[in-house]
Amino acid sequence: MKLWGGRFEKGINENVNDFNSSIRIDKRMYKEDIKGSIAHSRMLGKENIIPEEDSQKIISGLNKILKEIEEGTLVIDDNAEDIHSFIEKTLTSYIGEEGKKLHTGRSRNDQVTLDTKLYLKKELKIVASLLLNLQEVIYDKAKRNIDTIMPGYTHMQKAQPITFAHHILAYTQMFQRDLSRLEDCYKRLDEMPLGSGALATTSYPLNRNMVAKELGFSSITYNSIDAVSDRDYAIEALSVLSMIMMHLSRFSEEIILWATNEFNFIELSDEYSTGSSIMPQKKNPDVAELVRGKTGRVYGDLITLLTVMKGLPLAYNKDMQEDKEALFDALDTVKLSLKTFTGMLDTMTINKEKMKKGAALGYTNATDVADYLVKKGLPFRNAHEIVGEIVLYCIKKKLAIDDLSLEELKNFSSLFDIDIYKAISLTTCVEERKVIGGPSSFSVELQLEILENSIIKYKEIFEKLK
Ligand code: ARG
Repeated sequence: MKLWGGRFEKGINENVNDFNSSIRIDKRMYKEDIKGSIAHSRMLGKENIIPEEDSQKIISGLNKILKEIEEGTLVIDDNAEDIHSFIEKTLTSYIGEEGKKLHTGRSRNDQVTLDTKLYLKKELKIVASLLLNLQEVIYDKAKRNIDTIMPGYTHMQKAQPITFAHHILAYTQMFQRDLSRLEDCYKRLDEMPLGSGALATTSYPLNRNMVAKELGFSSITYNSIDAVSDRDYAIEALSVLSMIMMHLSRFSEEIILWATNEFNFIELSDEYSTGSSIMPQKKNPDVAELVRGKTGRVYGDLITLLTVMKGLPLAYNKDMQEDKEALFDALDTVKLSLKTFTGMLDTMTINKEKMKKGAALGYTNATDVADYLVKKGLPFRNAHEIVGEIVLYCIKKKLAIDDLSLEELKNFSSLFDIDIYKAISLTTCVEERKVIGGPSSFSVELQLEILENSIIKYKEIFEKLK
């Protein structure tokens, strides 16, 4: 039996029933659907729109359904049209005629967007807490690698010496922005749509603010047509999720490179690696590769919903039912990726020696040689030219700049003196960069302090959200 059978003479075609049904996707919102119905029913009773006893009977019926679903004694029927129909029908079969009063002054159009918002609020908090776990792991790794020198790259070519702490702290800035975007997205979706009805509200004197309060929304929506056709919040969430994946994917790419025999900067734990069925020596970074791969999938979810929405006239259209599959897929993917990625990062070991060698062998101190000459009075452009010649000389002789004797250096400029060696040691190159945001231990300690405060701040923010 459908919720809307009265106007029809024939039953629905079986394929159409399958095609139209969304229950396999939206059944995961059963808790939110029941919570929303309880709040709606309580309000109907309180405002005397339905008798108080009926409202009470509906509420206890809904609580019974919730309990039975959680205990597994009530199985959600995959042939039902959607979770809303299933729960309403089950309610009527449990409590009788009064169950049919629950839908007074409500439509599935405002109900479905309410459920999705409630579900998303809960999920955004989970994503935030997983991001915060990741921030903590990066914090710990950075703290232990303040003096781990490695080459920094531009164009994937060795550029200047940095530290491993400085490098991985770059990612914490990205995740901090993601946390702020999650908070922002939450704020904008925090408007309660129930009462909008199908599109034009209702003539029953609903108390929308009472429902909003019970459900933990900070305000209500103010245009019923927009309220039932708005999916901005889902698109916004998908775009934040895409951005999180993009950041994880860049980090994964570096981990994959660092784990190669050529770099050998890190080793992944056995627990987070896989082998090959044919090549016995292989230890593959599958987790990082999968995170990188799944990024495309989350982008796809974002594009799916943007495309679903782009041509839709107001107000509700059935196309919008496609929103949840994309949203849930992205949420599941991001949560699993964050959890696994964090474990992989936490358990990997760092090859400090190899990193340092990498920095020593790539002329990463060339800029500092130029800066040395500048400090002795040479214009930077001239210094750049001279050091370029020194590098070319070193490449031909297969030497590092530090390997040259003072006499050899003086052939390029008389400004060179014995203090050059200390000035261009990797430690000096890193430690002298005390500018805020830089790689010196002084600057990195400051970054760590800021990160620690940001972790505390975002924990508080997301704990407070209802
Ligand atoms: N299953 C539907 C969805 O997810 C619920 C809303 C149905 N509304 C309607 N007018 N048929 O969008």
